[in-house]
Amino acid sequence: MKNILILMGDGVSNEIMPAAIEVLDAVKKIYKLDLNYNYAPIGGRAYEEAGVPLPDKTLEMANSSDAILLGAVGDVKYDSLAPELRPEKALLGIRKKLNLFANLRPVKVFDELVESSPLKSDIAKDVDIMIVRELTGDVYFGEPKGAGIKKTLDNREIKYAFNNMIYDEDEIRRIAHVAFSAARKRKQRVCCVDKANVLDVSRLFREITKEVSKQYEDVELSFMYVDNCAMQLILNPRKFDVILTGNIFGDILSDEASTICSSLGMLPSASLSDGSSPYMYEPIHGSAPDIAGKNCVNPIATILSAAMMLYYSFNEKSAHDSIYRAVKDVLKEGYRTKDIAQKKCTIVTTTKMTDLIISKLK
Ligand code: IPM
Ligand code: MG
Repeated sequence: MKNILILMGDGVSNEIMPAAIEVLDAVKKIYKLDLNYNYAPIGGRAYEEAGVPLPDKTLEMANSSDAILLGAVGDVKYDSLAPELRPEKALLGIRKKLNLFANLRPVKVFDELVESSPLKSDIAKDVDIMIVRELTGDVYFGEPKGAGIKKTLDNREIKYAFNNMIYDEDEIRRIAHVAFSAARKRKQRVCCVDKANVLDVSRLFREITKEVSKQYEDVELSFMYVDNCAMQLILNPRKFDVILTGNIFGDILSDEASTICSSLGMLPSASLSDGSSPYMYEPIHGSAPDIAGKNCVNPIATILSAAMMLYYSFNEKSAHDSIYRAVKDVLKEGYRTKDIAQKKCTIVTTTKMTDLIISKLK
């Protein structure tokens, strides 16, 4: 039996998580999978229930599960909490504690959605990128960090704050291996994205990535500055196969890249460890409190995250493919949630979209 920990978060989590579970339940019957769900709170929900965004109990349950499926965390109502109590802290905390250093964010545009991409169809068509984002280092976690008050030359007291962009060679090496191995199963191209014209940490990133690339002679390695990459992603996204990058650049570029696929509501992700702790799956979009409770959120990113779980954690390729095909079939028939609407389509609710996808599973 596979024990899946369902981490219930904030905002639209109440809608996207049941959607993914219903799809898993359906696929589990077809493929005779033995999946069991346990539930724990995270983020604002955990703060309400237990006074902290990442309770020890949640972490323990995560550690002892076979895989973790997470909704999204965050709400404006927690913006004034101390940094340690903010919902986002729980997300960063669980990633770090479980050593989930490799975040895979596939940016694959469905043919059916090319028309609803804000980019011109001939640019969006056939885009298929895997963003490999390092997830447990960089300015997100670098020490020292802090804030304080200092005196200016003209004797004024002003506030300042700083974070630390830092990577060591071991961290770079292990994420580079993930990117090169992924490229081997794809179009054998890795583009390392950084800011090596300015940052020392990027220069080290390049040096170590080059060194690792020697073990993957069948994979072509190129380098690109992050500002240029931001532009190339909308000028000519087809040129990319695997993008290897650090935590903050990966965060920004993946939101940008999601628009190629029509909406942030389409992008799943997988966060992998070295195998000694369970992997975690989550949509890349946030908790979207503004649309929560309206039955209009796109459940596809979470449903595809559940599919990635079947593939990466349980090696259930057929069940994974079945979910992808079902999503594609529903889109082909013209059904759309609001965020991916186009001229001729039928707009449906979250629950309707989920039911449609389930009806297409085989
Ligand atoms: C993401 C999110 C998170 C991140 C936030 C919610 C902390 O934007 O998963 O991309 O920055 O990693
Ligand atoms: Mg993000």
